[in-house]
Amino acid sequence: MKPFYITTAIDYVNGSPHLGHAYEKVLADVIARFHRQLGEPVYFLTGVDEHGQKVQQSAKLRGIPPQQYADEVSLEFRALLPQLNISNDDFIRTTEERHKRVVRQLLQQLFNKGEIYKAEYQGFYSTRQEQFLQEKDRQPDGAWPEIFGEVTEITESNYFFKLKGYQDWLVEFLTKNEDFIFPRYRQKQVLEFLKDPLNDLCISRPRERLEWGIPLPFDENYVTYVWFDALVNYYSAVAATGQWPADCHVIGKDILLPPHAVYWPIMLHALGLPLPKSLLVHGWWSVNGVKMSKSTGNFIVPADYTAEFGVDALRYFLIREMNVGQDSDFTRVQFLVRYNSELANNLGNLVNRTLNMTTRFGGGIVPAAGPAAEAEQELHALWNKTRDEVIPLCEGFQFHTALEKTFAFITATNAYIEKRAPWKLGKSTAEADQVLLRTSLATMAEALRLGVALLQAVMPATTEKINAVLGYTPGAIWRDELVWGSKLAGSKVAEALVLFPRPQPAEKVPAKP
Ligand code: MSP
Repeated sequence: MKPFYITTAIDYVNGSPHLGHAYEKVLADVIARFHRQLGEPVYFLTGVDEHGQKVQQSAKLRGIPPQQYADEVSLEFRALLPQLNISNDDFIRTTEERHKRVVRQLLQQLFNKGEIYKAEYQGFYSTRQEQFLQEKDRQPDGAWPEIFGEVTEITESNYFFKLKGYQDWLVEFLTKNEDFIFPRYRQKQVLEFLKDPLNDLCISRPRERLEWGIPLPFDENYVTYVWFDALVNYYSAVAATGQWPADCHVIGKDILLPPHAVYWPIMLHALGLPLPKSLLVHGWWSVNGVKMSKSTGNFIVPADYTAEFGVDALRYFLIREMNVGQDSDFTRVQFLVRYNSELANNLGNLVNRTLNMTTRFGGGIVPAAGPAAEAEQELHALWNKTRDEVIPLCEGFQFHTALEKTFAFITATNAYIEKRAPWKLGKSTAEADQVLLRTSLATMAEALRLGVALLQAVMPATTEKINAVLGYTPGAIWRDELVWGSKLAGSKVAEALVLFPRPQPAEKVPAKP
């Protein structure tokens, strides 16, 4: 069975990783883990984009060779993965031989097919974006937008890929495959973009202008344009093992158009290779409304949060806070609000009450449940509803809502405990109260086990810890774990588990927003 093949964008190594990069990895990781949970084999690729002008410039600034610079910064991106508990199967660097070989092979194939030609080109060039600009890129006042940095007019001979000839094919493909890009409105944007005629794509840079790249196999005086090099990573990583096509490319909205929505499908089609099954396009994290980025310097360092609050608190926040596809602002206050009210006071509280009460009133062993009365039946019904809603939500990338519903179930379980008040039942010797006490202990433990099963993809380490203190080893088939039952009856639980220690009082914010 071909694995579910999922990729992230490969990050430029011209600066250290920030929270935007971290988010994309976590999002892809949650999807990868979700598919593994459903019993599918998964192949998860991430990596770094090491060639191009930006890296060459950054290396020059540091006064070291680009390879050395790329080696150093790549290590930082690689180190981010275990820090975030990312379950990738592979990590590709575009300076690796396995990648360069495939890029050159594909270029040669396209050249042999007559899809690449040489021509003289004159135009306005943005060094920052490494692209020639078009008249339509100008602002109404004629100036070039800030994002292009310094723009100069240059003439040079270059190689071009015949993009133009594939425009009608691409429009037809996107019209027929409405779900190629998520969210759907992005696909509409691409079709809008394709209403204007495409130009052929300049795919080379003369080596005198850019040394740091993969030389064209048919003309060593040129290196490949960065996008042609970068996009191929998705294919080069698995070219030898046959996992292509990708099922899902997870990317940010800034790199959808034109690279992923236009260049990449056309490159593959021209090569006679299958297209990826889907593009998942996420939004941007900002700080005070400004996109978080290396160049503006307004970035959050993920390690600051994982060190202070633990990896799962950050993973939870990123996935709970952002509606996939839209933008979100990152603030420490909002992080603390969720940390306190959802993780510490809700989930952490349920774990501690369950352990504490099972220890005090059950001798540390989860009892068998007695007959379910109304309060238990309500919780069972809520569980069934929650589970049946959460799975399709995850399949549709609505992870923020899936978490909201899962936490509503955890809230309901805490409310159930308040209602049953085992601490009162424990004081009574009446048989009916003792039965109810055992039922309430069994019910809270089972509800916790179930709720936690839905959190597994987002908070894998926390889930593991909670299962361990419940004395529970989940079975191999995740869906079978989601049935309300008595899997914990007879389990020996631990006395306590500190999952989400409270932040310092000085930083405390109200528990509810
Ligand atoms: N190297 C290219 C991608 C090549 S993929 C074949 C690139 N690199 S990048 O480092 O600039 O960005 C990598 C990914 O991080 C992109 O998907 C980008 O959208 C994402 N993010 C960078 N800043 C971001 C935020 N502030 N918020 C969320 N994600 C953003 O582009």
